[in-house]
Amino acid sequence: MATFLENPLRVGLQQDRVPEPQILVIFGASGDLTQRKLVPALYQMRRERRLPAEITIVGVARRNWSHDFFREHMREGVEQFGSGLGSELLWEEFAQGLFYCSGDIDNGADYEKLKNFLAELDETRKTRGNRVFYLSVAPKYFAEAIQQLGASAMVNNPQKQRLVIEKPFGRDIGSAQSLNKVVQKVCAEEQIYRIDHYLGKETVQNLMVFRFANAIFEPLWNRQFVDHIQITVAETVGLEGRAGYYETSGALRDMVQNHLMQLFCLTAMEPPNSLDADSIRNEKVKVLRATHLADLNDLNVSATRGQYTSGWMKGKAVPAYRQEEGADPNSITHTYAALKLYVDNWRWKGVPFYMRTGKRMPKKVSEITIQFKEVPFLMFQSAAKQANPNVLSLRIQPNEGIALRFEAKTPGNSLRTRSVDMDFRYDTAFGQPNTDAYSRLLVDCMLGDQTLFTRGDEVEASWRLLTPLLQAWELPAPPHSIPMYEAGTWGPIESELLLNRDGRLWRRL
Ligand code: BG6
Repeated sequence: MATFLENPLRVGLQQDRVPEPQILVIFGASGDLTQRKLVPALYQMRRERRLPAEITIVGVARRNWSHDFFREHMREGVEQFGSGLGSELLWEEFAQGLFYCSGDIDNGADYEKLKNFLAELDETRKTRGNRVFYLSVAPKYFAEAIQQLGASAMVNNPQKQRLVIEKPFGRDIGSAQSLNKVVQKVCAEEQIYRIDHYLGKETVQNLMVFRFANAIFEPLWNRQFVDHIQITVAETVGLEGRAGYYETSGALRDMVQNHLMQLFCLTAMEPPNSLDADSIRNEKVKVLRATHLADLNDLNVSATRGQYTSGWMKGKAVPAYRQEEGADPNSITHTYAALKLYVDNWRWKGVPFYMRTGKRMPKKVSEITIQFKEVPFLMFQSAAKQANPNVLSLRIQPNEGIALRFEAKTPGNSLRTRSVDMDFRYDTAFGQPNTDAYSRLLVDCMLGDQTLFTRGDEVEASWRLLTPLLQAWELPAPPHSIPMYEAGTWGPIESELLLNRDGRLWRRL
């Protein structure tokens, strides 16, 4: 029987088409993202012939760069951060489509200049009025840029003009709603692509395939069989010179509201009845609306935060957060957050979802683990002196794969058991996965496929869920009021308590 995954009419999560010739206009093009991620990703797509030869990129920023300077800067980016130039000839062809247009985000005349320039490019590059405007500027400029694009009538054709907005989309529910109002006044929702690069990761997309293209897991995916779920996104990096942004953000805004919530949604949502963007996004919104922090009257039972002190990472001394360049020496910004959530619906009522993320953790690892309930009665001797519950681990990165832990008999005369793993690895099954999420998302946007982008109500639902915590953690507090953890460890002791109180432990990853 055909499933919707085989349906030829499917529209979402597809990428076999090549987008029409178009111009990608990047606002904030002198920033890191353009050189490190966006242009290397686009070049890679061109190398794979997944973009047409006419693909044109216009970088916009305040600095007074020439087209040639921009081309050279991007070439360095492709060489250093991408998968290399491949052929010099192909780079030359691609570089002919790179342009730079200096301008101020709040200067209407600069938008007119840009508009005229894009019209000229339509003639020479045959791009037929197709545009993607990518806002890679500081979030405080989003609203201004959107209004200016609207005023200069550059985004008034939903069929041909799209707008990509980087995260963070707002900094709480109120600002997300205001930004939604601004953008929805200027564009139709079908033109708006709120980007979350986690959705571009192969393993994140595989979550849906794993759940809905296999008959054996879905019947177990509920409160009857699942004890609890853990979602971990641990990073080894520290502040990386981003104090200006991070000091006002913290882990909740930087990672939880977007990346972890997306992992959560794909794990917890109901099966959509089709793969089109809205069916999937409807299910994500539904599950977000059914979710709440474990105890709204006692936030300490629901969440904990922490900030790293100095420590050791791979034998190298690293500074404390407060000693990082640009960080306030008394900062109470949290670089670690752990949460406990409940989903009030028939599938999940009473099953805790624990999530944690932090910087300067011992390992870079993102994983979702589904821990199943224990057997009701154990007749065997177990090496662990108790029955080890089955655990399904979905490894998002690195060592991408899926493992199922179960009990097996240890060889010998006695009937003893030990936990073993059944392990699927992406690299052995398919070769290294294409880990570049941006390539995937950029092409999807050019194709007009919104499946892997966040809808306005979705982003609001996720902010709403975190609002009590955002408010509590934002109250002015003395510098010693935030729990500390040593760089190179798994977070503050309080994060252990979050699970210990329930008789559980974080998985050792
Ligand atoms: C970004 C955050 O969105 O994601 C960074 O702003 C974080 O702070 C990064 O380091 C992590 O992404 P990845 O793909 O390396 O897991």
